[in-house]
Amino acid sequence: MLIAPSLLSCDFSVMGEEIERMDKSGADYMHLDVMDGHFVPNITFGAPVIKTVRKYTEKPFDVHLMISEPLKYIEDFANAGADIITFHIESDSDVQETIDKIKACGKKPGLVIKPNTKAEEVFPYLKDLFMVLVMTVEPGFGGQSFMADMLPKVKEIREEANKVNPELLIEVDGGIGEATIKQAYDAGVDVCVAGTAVFKADSATEAINNLKALCK
Ligand code: DX5
Ligand code: ZN
Repeated sequence: MLIAPSLLSCDFSVMGEEIERMDKSGADYMHLDVMDGHFVPNITFGAPVIKTVRKYTEKPFDVHLMISEPLKYIEDFANAGADIITFHIESDSDVQETIDKIKACGKKPGLVIKPNTKAEEVFPYLKDLFMVLVMTVEPGFGGQSFMADMLPKVKEIREEANKVNPELLIEVDGGIGEATIKQAYDAGVDVCVAGTAVFKADSATEAINNLKALCK
């Protein structure tokens, strides 16, 4: 299981150092939550901030766009140093065009579905994707409870991907911790985002090790 700490729960006054700390703690990806106050009822940061903190690690930047018009900003996030760019199928941008744009920028595309969106909505795009992110909370805030009823969607997507794109990674985001990660692993998840569980722990190294150890 890969672990992607969500910087949403970091100390933003020292965001670069927090990224360094996650790097040393065994994080696989840095998960960066971009919110525009329109697609979701919260505002975080954009491409300029991501660019500033890019130098603190060589690990991949997994940029989760919770914004209404992702297509408009793909180039900005690519130039800022994103490696994986995930955007919501429920956004206003054309899905295929946005995937193509991410690829044209040399980055890895991912499609995200909110809790009310069915798994089959992503099926037409699976062959073109690096990742599908299944939200296990309503996007917008850290620290919410894990929705275990999203896991059947992971299984559906895994089954379909096995036919058209076996390399596809499935990520879940929201409420992942020691009490929930095993269920995600059993459902076939490859990457778990974890905000609260990693950043609020006394030792991020221990937290990440413990999460990984539960996946067997
Ligand atoms: C929610 C964000 C998540 C969030 C997860 O909209 O996409 O990445 O930070 O936080 P936890 O792990 O605390 O639920
Ligand atoms: Zn996220």
